[in-house]
Amino acid sequence: MSDRRRIGVGITGASGAPIAVRLIEVLLESDCEVHLTCSKAGRLVIQEELGPRQTAGTPGGMIPGLQHDQLLEFSERDFYAPMASGSSRLDAMVIVPCTMGTIGAIAAGTSDNLLRRAADVMIKERRPLIVVPREAPLSEIHLENLLRLARAGVTVIPPVLTFYQSPGDGVAEQIDFVVSRILDHVGIDNDLYARWGKR
Ligand SMILES: Cc1cc2nc3c(=O)[nH]c(=O)nc-3n(C[C@H](O)[C@H](O)[C@H](O)COP(=O)(O)O)c2cc1C
Repeated sequence: MSDRRRIGVGITGASGAPIAVRLIEVLLESDCEVHLTCSKAGRLVIQEELGPRQTAGTPGGMIPGLQHDQLLEFSERDFYAPMASGSSRLDAMVIVPCTMGTIGAIAAGTSDNLLRRAADVMIKERRPLIVVPREAPLSEIHLENLLRLARAGVTVIPPVLTFYQSPGDGVAEQIDFVVSRILDHVGIDNDLYARWGKR
């Protein structure tokens, strides 16, 4: 088996598709193999937030303009995808952005699409699962579901605004801060953001 790290990425129908795109780009630059799946609502929000991106000049698949040999895409109904089974050994999985619907479904163990099944597999196999939940405000139900996931070993990284660096930070810097925290938990070295105490 190759030493290349295999990272699962799931995109659901919450606001934040640009965070997922940036994460995937950095994972590919870090020589990871990325296994990508999107929920049906995730595809809608990608269209809403990314539109027809022109960056790479190629049509791309799930993400317009993003194609790569090490980016493998799987439909939400493809339960033959490697991430659907514990035997396939993803090194980590990140669900970004993650809706409250998917948080609830994972907490209830429904496994009713590939993304939710893959999350269930990561939890049962005790491998790193990171969720980036996006909703405001959070209800008692959302918080209870998030607590349930945290107690099952899932890392919860909300995409919060950060003002450590400088007041002039724009959206790109805010995205990099969130992606940097995700990468730290996936175990991938990065210097996307100046670390505390190193200024
Ligand atoms: C444009 C758009 C933005 C949305 N943003 C959010 C959001 O930020 N957080 C959330 O929990 N749901 C959001 N939703 C609702 C979810 O997409 C909806 O609950 C969906 O059923 C979730 O399915 P999924 O978890 O399988 O992607 C949004 C829907 C649309 C159309």
